Amino acid sequence: GSNSINAKLVLLGDMGAGKSSLVLRFVKGQFLEFQESTIGAAFFSQTLAVSDATVKLEIWDTAGQERYHSLAPMYYRGAAASIIVYDISRMVCAVLIPVSSTGTLYLIVLGDLDGSPNLVTAFAGNKCDLEDKREVPTEEARTYAEENGLFFMETSARTAINVNDIFYEIARRLPRA
Ligand code: GTP
Ligand code: MG
Repeated sequence: GSNSINAKLVLLGDMGAGKSSLVLRFVKGQFLEFQESTIGAAFFSQTLAVSDATVKLEIWDTAGQERYHSLAPMYYRGAAASIIVYDISRMVCAVLIPVSSTGTLYLIVLGDLDGSPNLVTAFAGNKCDLEDKREVPTEEARTYAEENGLFFMETSARTAINVNDIFYEIARRLPRA
């Protein structure tokens, strides 16, 4: 298509959920068993061709550790899209979202607190290869996502399940210029 779009995308979520691993899988096709915890944030860019547009994603992979949360507004300011990542094998990582300080962060991103326009946001249940350790039922997460206007996918950075799909789905849903 003739449309060319630049879009800022921010990944948010608890430490260890697999944000960096999802980006590394998507951008470089790689997976590290011992991915290092992110300090501050990391930047990547990737250009995608969807049916009616070329979309350049400017991806900010934020740090999940609590001590970096005050930095997050710098990364999501001006963002067109976000991916909220949790680990399906850790209930605490998912249930804390609405109530914790990180939950507040998500609500800001979703426009519920500061009235900014809603972002195109995905809710990603990562590590779906760990079915035998699952603590977060798929249908509960899907319901939470639907109630909050997010689109839902379970992903695995390790096996690559749904990793391209989630980024392409975001690209498809971005408003056209
Ligand atoms: P912070 O940077 O601290 O916020 O963490 P993060 O969300 O970026 O998590 P990271 O990508 O560093 O992954 C944490 C650990 O989980 C690493 O040891 C990864 O190898 C592992 N991991 C990430 N994704 C998956 C997955 O899909 N399946 C499995 N089995 N392990 C994963
Ligand atoms: Mg990281």
